[in-house]
Amino acid sequence: MGKRIQLPAGIDPHVHLRDPGGTHKETFLTGTAAALAGGYSCVLDMPNNQPPIADLEALSAKERAAAAAVCDYGFWWGGTAANADLAPQAAARCVGMKVYMTHTYGPLLVDDAPALVRLFQAWPAGRPIAVHAEGSATLAAILLGQLYGKWVHICHVSEAWQIAAIRRAKEQGFRVTCEVTPHHLFLTEDDARALGSLGQMRPPLGTAADRQALWDNLDVIDVLATDHAPHTLEEKRSANPPPGVPGLETALPLMLTAVAEGRLTLERLVALYHDAPARLFGISAPDSFVVVETGVRAAIRGDTLQTKCRWTPFEGMAVGARVLETWVRGTRAWGDGRILVAPGFGQRVRRGE
Ligand code: DOR
Ligand code: ZN
Ligand code: ZN
Repeated sequence: MGKRIQLPAGIDPHVHLRDPGGTHKETFLTGTAAALAGGYSCVLDMPNNQPPIADLEALSAKERAAAAAVCDYGFWWGGTAANADLAPQAAARCVGMKVYMTHTYGPLLVDDAPALVRLFQAWPAGRPIAVHAEGSATLAAILLGQLYGKWVHICHVSEAWQIAAIRRAKEQGFRVTCEVTPHHLFLTEDDARALGSLGQMRPPLGTAADRQALWDNLDVIDVLATDHAPHTLEEKRSANPPPGVPGLETALPLMLTAVAEGRLTLERLVALYHDAPARLFGISAPDSFVVVETGVRAAIRGDTLQTKCRWTPFEGMAVGARVLETWVRGTRAWGDGRILVAPGFGQRVRRGE
């Protein structure tokens, strides 16, 4: 028999809910249902929609789509070569700005130096600039933040040298934070070979040495982020598969299994999935907690998930924990294997100043 424990509900600073523009992959309703089923009370949604959330009309359309949410949510604004002048208005409505400095899914790439400089100059200091920066672009992101006195949040750190560089930047007192995904903590390029396109995402899975470096440097990592990036199985199995994997419902079971194996402490895990994202992104969710059962033996199964895409790169993996209940602001929102609140229960998070 397992043991029931109560923990703070999760805050995931990095999800792609696809709504509007990609609702065959996920919607605000299905994506936030997946969040609740995974033990999260709040998600911050990325801007690489179609069209991207890089003008105020697109942001309004996302605000309308989000009215169906069943957990709390906030938005990332998409910085482009042409929208630096909108920074003050966007900053009032979004938790931070996302800049895609290297190529990934969607049209938001900004790799031109003058455009990057304009964006970093325009964005308010003290509010995060999250970067998708693979390879040496990580170094450019850290330098841009330092040059213009801005807070840079490095998304999905995946390589050993990156985490070493971020440690160095922090030691120098640079305003840099970073996140790691469960897929980069639990899978490697060997899994990617076995999974085929289902193991493809940006940044790609690293070597065993990269993965070990993430575990060895967990003290440098601020937050756990799923980078929940659903695509349909049909799309993933097509000749031109898009990068990205879902992750909201598998993160806590995997991480709690790592706790049971002694790979990190429960306190450190809570800091990564709740305390640090709450503090960094100014989110308070009183009476929001998750009831998990530990000491169980279960296997991850895509066809049991709430996410619309209903597959997982962790298919068949053994885990020792499951999420029984998720409470949001005093209401049991997930329990008995189903969503217990109506669309619209989720609230927009306001930046605590
Ligand atoms: O693999 C990824 N998929 N990486 C990203 O940065 C974007 C994401 C997506 O939106 O599918
Ligand atoms: Zn990314
Ligand atoms: Zn992402």
